Amino acid sequence: MAPRHLLSLSDLTSEELEAIIANAIALKKSHYEGNAPLPLANKTLGMIFEKSSTRTRVSFEAGMTQLGGSAIFLSPRDTQLGRGEPIEDSARVLSRMVDIIMIRTFEQADLERFAAYSRVPVINALTDTFHPCQLLADVQTFVEHRGSPKGKTVAWVGDGNNMCHSYINAARLCDFQLRIACPRGFEPDPELLAANADRVTVVNSPADAVKGAHWVATDVWASMGQESEQKEREKQFAGFQVNHELMALAQPDAVFMHCLPAHRGEEVSAELMEDEKFTVVWDEAENRLHAQKALMLFLLKNQQ
Ligand code: CP
Ligand code: NVA
Repeated sequence: MAPRHLLSLSDLTSEELEAIIANAIALKKSHYEGNAPLPLANKTLGMIFEKSSTRTRVSFEAGMTQLGGSAIFLSPRDTQLGRGEPIEDSARVLSRMVDIIMIRTFEQADLERFAAYSRVPVINALTDTFHPCQLLADVQTFVEHRGSPKGKTVAWVGDGNNMCHSYINAARLCDFQLRIACPRGFEPDPELLAANADRVTVVNSPADAVKGAHWVATDVWASMGQESEQKEREKQFAGFQVNHELMALAQPDAVFMHCLPAHRGEEVSAELMEDEKFTVVWDEAENRLHAQKALMLFLLKNQQ
């Protein structure tokens, strides 16, 4: 049978996402209690990184160890991938050696090509288009702090980027309303917006997005690969900072999320990052570990 992949969040049904989040919460509990099982003994995760990472690399690697398996870090600098070995060949070879593979790369199409030739599950660990693993952690964090996101209002402030696209997918799967505020010219993919028009709206100003929201999220103004646009983007995104003034328009118990790394003084104020009344970013980062453990168990179990 063909393996299950997670190339975007919409590879999951709402029920599957809910089950992964419930298992992530259970795994977190057993991790803290020190009685976690080792269901992936003798299994190996291949980790292909064509972009930098702190959270994704460490959470996948530590997560695999905690489940009894091991992980191999593969960077294009040290593998034949970086010397032009075709993606299709790399996928066929690696997937005969390891049990599950995660990839962080630029083009979503490259990830899809790799998955098409892989015998084992492939996980999107961030592309220019989506970052589904981050959304597993974000949803888990909301559930832990405020319960089900169903029927809630979520505000996205900033770039219509990979994170924003994954929030759009999450809105459908978790049944929340998403209000997106981006500067003109930085809106998310129009096709994805059109397909989710019943629950996603693009508004003109951060204030319109955040008014009454239960959950406010943002991300850097220049993503990996856009470093040369940093200065220009700082100008275009002026007025799109999430800070106390903006959070005051949200629900009084609204949470603030950021996938990190954060640029204090740009997309988020330093004060808001440190204000425990709103910020859940450290739990959000930690939950990458628990949510991805649950994801790997889900994908491997579904292979038979
Ligand atoms: N949020 C996130 O994916 O962080 P890293 O780039 O450090 O992996
Ligand atoms: N949008 C950011 C997310 C980093 C985790 C990027 O792609 O660089």
